[in-house]
Amino acid sequence: MNVAAFVPSKTAIPYYAPGGNEVALFERAWAGQLPLLLKGPTGCGKTRFVAHMAARLGLPLHTVSCHDDLTAADLTGRYLLKGGDTVWTDGPLTRAVREGGICYLDEVVEARKDVAVVLHPLTDDRRILPLERTGEELAAPQSFMLVVSYNPGYQSLIKTMKPSTRQRFVAIEFDFLPPEQEMAVVAAESGLSETRVRPLVQLAGRLRALKGQDLEEGVSTRLIVYCASLIEAGLPTREAVLATMIEPLTDDADVKAALVEIARAVIG
Ligand SMILES: Nc1ncnc2c1ncn2[C@@H]1O[C@H](COP(=O)(O)OP(=O)(O)OP(=O)(O)O)[C@@H](O)[C@H]1O
Ligand SMILES: [Mg+2]
Repeated sequence: MNVAAFVPSKTAIPYYAPGGNEVALFERAWAGQLPLLLKGPTGCGKTRFVAHMAARLGLPLHTVSCHDDLTAADLTGRYLLKGGDTVWTDGPLTRAVREGGICYLDEVVEARKDVAVVLHPLTDDRRILPLERTGEELAAPQSFMLVVSYNPGYQSLIKTMKPSTRQRFVAIEFDFLPPEQEMAVVAAESGLSETRVRPLVQLAGRLRALKGQDLEEGVSTRLIVYCASLIEAGLPTREAVLATMIEPLTDDADVKAALVEIARAVIG
């Protein structure tokens, strides 16, 4: 399990360019003690947004990357053997509830079904985390907020969130930024000038239009940032585009050839 907790300093707020009213909505949800669900395609800024908001509000951020083996006990904690004794060890969710701050469960639909059971009492007006094993019942402090995210594009029939879970969250849908704003983000993240970033964002727009036909997912903002960073570091544009905006998208030779053609037409 990939777990990280840190207390960000007010002086180092991660850069985030909002696409809509998500900053105000997050602040209201936090003030109102409401849990938040973020959905949107890969690499569109969900994780960056949460890091930005935690820093902005001066809250500790506890991040858990969920995977298909993640169980409720991984989140809440378990008894572990330590020098002959069995000692209770808090999981990341329990730590977050004890300490307060934001607990961010990334790709929450991946987790096992029993995770919903621990999230339910935390995400309604009870705001409690019952720890069956220790007999404790932790009340979440005022600063505690649960944020979960997932990518609806990857959802299969089995991996959906039940209505009884999802209807406990305030939800925000994310999408890629409009071209002018995305250009500014890519330029800021990579250091490449906006003039040189422009055709990359145009190409991304063309490739995103193929989503659902030849491609499972469109080019993410993350990949455009990679591309621009490689160009800024001196790699020829064509090579950078192939390695970041084409190869990661497909393994199919015909689809790849078609993408290369589109890239030639847009970038030259
Ligand atoms: N609105 C934005 N403001 C600043 N940077 C952004 C924004 N959107 C995307 N980025 C850039 O794109 C990268 C990927 O974003 P992020 O990791 O937040 O995506 P994500 O939505 O969490 O993706 P995934 O679903 O794959 O976890 C960031 O590291 C950042 O460089
Ligand atoms: Mg993420």
